[in-house]
Amino acid sequence: MARLEIIKIGHPTLAKKSVRIEKIDDEIRRLARDMVETMHAAPGIGLSAPQVNVSRRLITVDLSVGENKDEIIVLVNPDILSREGKVVREEGCLSVPEIYEKVARPQKVVVKGQDLEGRDRVLEAQDMLARVFCHEIDHLDGKLFVDILSPLKRKLIRQKFKKKDEADES
Ligand code: NI
Repeated sequence: MARLEIIKIGHPTLAKKSVRIEKIDDEIRRLARDMVETMHAAPGIGLSAPQVNVSRRLITVDLSVGENKDEIIVLVNPDILSREGKVVREEGCLSVPEIYEKVARPQKVVVKGQDLEGRDRVLEAQDMLARVFCHEIDHLDGKLFVDILSPLKRKLIRQKFKKKDEADES
């Protein structure tokens, strides 16, 4: 297993639509294992492949952050089948460090995807789990949580990270 580098806002891969995974092979299974390790080490409750600079439709989720193996969810090609209700809550992202903003998400979602053996899985998720699914699936479509904030907030956050990048480079 290996810990992967998590790329940050401003990196082009985070703005790209990720490609569907046609074949779940050892490479995909290794990527999933490395993503789970990277997510736990961060620590975070969700991670998407584009955040480790791989433009494929794969997400990992673990609300227990490594405390309970049974809570680890790996989904290949996840899609949201239905959304219900609305909850506004503060949200963050490993690719947007130190920024937390209130975001509206559905209270309940039904998500469909495949596990690492290629079996179809349909999951019903509520509250925090629903939020994480929405957030990670947005990543697969090149969308960050800051992109659904007001245009002004979005601009301020993007400027902040741009300045930070420039300072790091000099
Ligand atoms: Ni994120």
